[in-house]
Amino acid sequence: MQVSSLLRLGLGAVAVCLVAACGEPADNFPGQPVTHRRQAFRDIMKSFEPMGVMLRQDGYQAERFAELAEKYNTAFETPWAYFGGPDTRYPPSTARAEIWTDAAQFEQRKQAFLAASRTFVEAARARDDTRVAQAYLAVHEQCEQCHKTFKDK
Ligand code: HEC
Repeated sequence: MQVSSLLRLGLGAVAVCLVAACGEPADNFPGQPVTHRRQAFRDIMKSFEPMGVMLRQDGYQAERFAELAEKYNTAFETPWAYFGGPDTRYPPSTARAEIWTDAAQFEQRKQAFLAASRTFVEAARARDDTRVAQAYLAVHEQCEQCHKTFKDK
């Protein structure tokens, strides 16, 4: 199957707003966990989105893609340290309370995402276009699955 058609099956862009919203309340919480984890997810997008564009447009360039994957590799583990206790859910966070009331499932989703991300980075390093496309799709699926349960729109 062609990379582009494979991706078209399941791949819309991850729904996001990258614009720093105006008029948001100041983050006065010690350590600013909401500010940091939102920034960490935006940093993930900075490499993840252009890789998706490349694959969807059938413009896979192994070297450029591998560079972006290295960037992704430095970003995908960052948000998780900023999920503190349930008191770190405050405006403008879109985190759902289930992260803390169903912590075991959140942990499972996180681990599945981390595993998929590692497999993806390895495929990009191996410069194997078919494996790369499938692994990208698998990571994308993890983003969506977690957001569906644990993130408000
Ligand atoms: C294990 C769960 C989980 C996974 C996996 C996950 N996210 Fe998220 N994501 C969240 C939660 C929860 C929030 C809300 C954080 C907040 O507002 O406090 C979020 C927020 C975001 C945001 C919004 C940041 C902002 O500015 O408010 C973006 C963008 C995002 N995620 C992208 C991604 C992408 C891309 C992936 C996959 C590569 C991904 N996420 C994987 C749980 C997850």
